[in-house]
Amino acid sequence: MTERDAAEGVAALAALLGRAQRVVALTGAGISTESGIPDFRSPGGVWSRHDPRDLTFDRYVADAGVRARSWEMRQEFFATRPAPNPAHAALVALERAGRLRAVITQNIDGLHQDAGSREVVEVHGTARTVTCIGRWPVDGLPDGCGFVAPYAWAVERLESGDPDPGCPDCGGLVKSATVSFGQQLPEQAIRRAQLHAAVSDVFLVVGSSLQVYPAAALPGVAQQNGARVVIVNDEPTDLDPVAHLVVRGRAGEVLPTAVAGVAPHRNG
Ligand code: APR
Repeated sequence: MTERDAAEGVAALAALLGRAQRVVALTGAGISTESGIPDFRSPGGVWSRHDPRDLTFDRYVADAGVRARSWEMRQEFFATRPAPNPAHAALVALERAGRLRAVITQNIDGLHQDAGSREVVEVHGTARTVTCIGRWPVDGLPDGCGFVAPYAWAVERLESGDPDPGCPDCGGLVKSATVSFGQQLPEQAIRRAQLHAAVSDVFLVVGSSLQVYPAAALPGVAQQNGARVVIVNDEPTDLDPVAHLVVRGRAGEVLPTAVAGVAPHRNG
C-alpha cells in the first residue's frame, strides 16, 4: 500500500482508471457530505447526535416513540433537499466511458441514481420508499403484506399529524425501506454486490470508514479475485494497509480530477 498525497494520488488513480475495464465503486456516507448530508462517524456525524442502539430494528418494532423519532430524522434528512455533487457525477462519467460496471452504495439517499448512475446496488436499502414490515416482525426479518409506497406517502401522513403511519392495507407497521442495525440485509443486493466485486479489476472505495460488514468485506472479495483496491477517503481506514493505493482527500475534488483524463474504453 502506498498513501500518496492528493495530487500524486490523483495522478496514480487516473492512470489506473485509464487502464481499467471493470471498475466497481463502493461508496459510503463520505461521498454525500459535499451534498450537505452528514456522515456517521466523523466528528459531528449522525452517531455523535443519536445512539445507534436506540434505532435498531427491534426497538423500532417495539417502541412507538422510536418510530416517531425515526420519522423525524427522515424528515430532517429530506428537508436539506440533497443533490448529487461532482463525486457522484464523476462515477457517472466513468460508467458512460465504459470503464465502471457498478456502484455499490451503503447510502440510502438515492443520489447516485439522481446523478445518472445506471447500475446501483443499495446494500443498506433506500430512504426513497416506505414499506409494510407487518404487525410484529421478529429476528430482524420484515414480515409485511407487500405494501410499498414512495416516501411522500409517509410525509403526507406525518404532516397531517400522524406520528406513526400504519399500513393502509393490513394495519401493520410501516418503515422506511432502509436497513436498520439488527435487521436482515437484502440478500439479493448483497449477492449482486459480491458478484460485482469478484469480477472487478479496480475496486474503488469512496467515502467509507469500512467499519460495517458485509460491505467492508467487499474490498477483500475483489482483491482475492485479482482486483486492485483503491481507497479515496479524507481519513485513514482499517483497510488502508492492504490497499493498492490510498488517496487522502475529498471525494468531490479527487474523483472529478482523476476521471477527467480517462478516455472512453474502446468497447465502451
Ligand atoms: N471526501 C472523502 N471522504 C470523506 C468525505 C469527503 N467529502 N466526507 C467524509 N469522508 C469520510 C470520513 O472521514 C469517514 O471515514 O467518509 C467516511 C464515512 O464513514 P462513516 O461515517 O462511517 O460512513 P459509512 O462508512 O458509510 O458507514 C457505513 O454505517 O451506520 C451505518 O448504515 C450506516 O451505511 C452506514 C454504514
